[in-house]
Amino acid sequence: MGKELELGQEIRELKKKHGAVILAHYYQRPEIKQIADFVGDSLQLAQKAAGVDAGVIVFCGVYFMAESAKILSPEKTVLLPEKSAGCYLADRATGEGVRARKKEIPGCVVVTYVNSSAAVKAESDIVCTSSNAIKVVNSLPEDRPVLFVPDRNLGHYVARQTGRKLILWDGCCNVHDNLTAEEVKAVKDAHPDALVMVHPECRPEVIDMADYVSSTGGMLKFARESDNTSFIVGTEEGILYSLQQACPDKFFYPAASRLTCPDMKLTTLEKVRDTLEKMEPQIQVAPSVAEKAQLALSRMLE
Ligand code: 13P
Ligand code: SF4
Repeated sequence: MGKELELGQEIRELKKKHGAVILAHYYQRPEIKQIADFVGDSLQLAQKAAGVDAGVIVFCGVYFMAESAKILSPEKTVLLPEKSAGCYLADRATGEGVRARKKEIPGCVVVTYVNSSAAVKAESDIVCTSSNAIKVVNSLPEDRPVLFVPDRNLGHYVARQTGRKLILWDGCCNVHDNLTAEEVKAVKDAHPDALVMVHPECRPEVIDMADYVSSTGGMLKFARESDNTSFIVGTEEGILYSLQQACPDKFFYPAASRLTCPDMKLTTLEKVRDTLEKMEPQIQVAPSVAEKAQLALSRMLE
């Protein structure tokens, strides 16, 4: 039996033994998505974590995602196979930093992108993901200033789409923010019939070149439903495997060759096996932080 098959078998047995479910983000390695019970974007994974009927969740993604799962399902054991899998964007803001900024903007509503720590969520009124940020901002009272944390590119995009003036935190994702309009143009010149899909964490000038702007889950839906047969993809390269799987007859071209999130690639089959064997590392969130963060997350899910 090949190594991957062997590990897959071990994982299936351990999963059964512990009554565990494996959730994986689209940016994960193909072999991880193959053994997952559910693959999704940030919003779909948060919804799944909140409603799944299993005592143990193995979260194949990055720290803030597993932390959100624990906050939404505190009674469940949440395992993150690689504890150091972080998020550059989430690290751009701290709870103390947001608290200090709030004091400077009396009466503000804090909308926080899910790519953030529990401490930052605890300082927020409502959480959003890339798939519902516009809806969330549209639901806010118009007479109050809105502080949008921590992604300035997503905030800029949402401000334009909603016509609301948002006060933007100056953070970004180093993977998406590195994609340039010149790079997208070069791929578009090579494939003029391809539609350009980009993630809203990209820079405004890249977003301006897109035919479709959305979360990873939205891109999959768009590609599936579109009559077009080719697409240029401006997000982390892990989505390409999922797109090709969903649409085997269509063509997908990365908008640049280096759109890789190193933290998303830290999860391996060996680590998933080990985490189920040892039942660690387990994610814990201090109850005082979890309670407030849960409120902001639940408002989004409502
Ligand atoms: P999605 O919400 O589209 O899954 O994005 C998550 C993410 O980390 C983007 O970089
Ligand atoms: Fe964070 Fe960017 Fe990686 Fe997404 S791609 S997990 S925002 S560092």
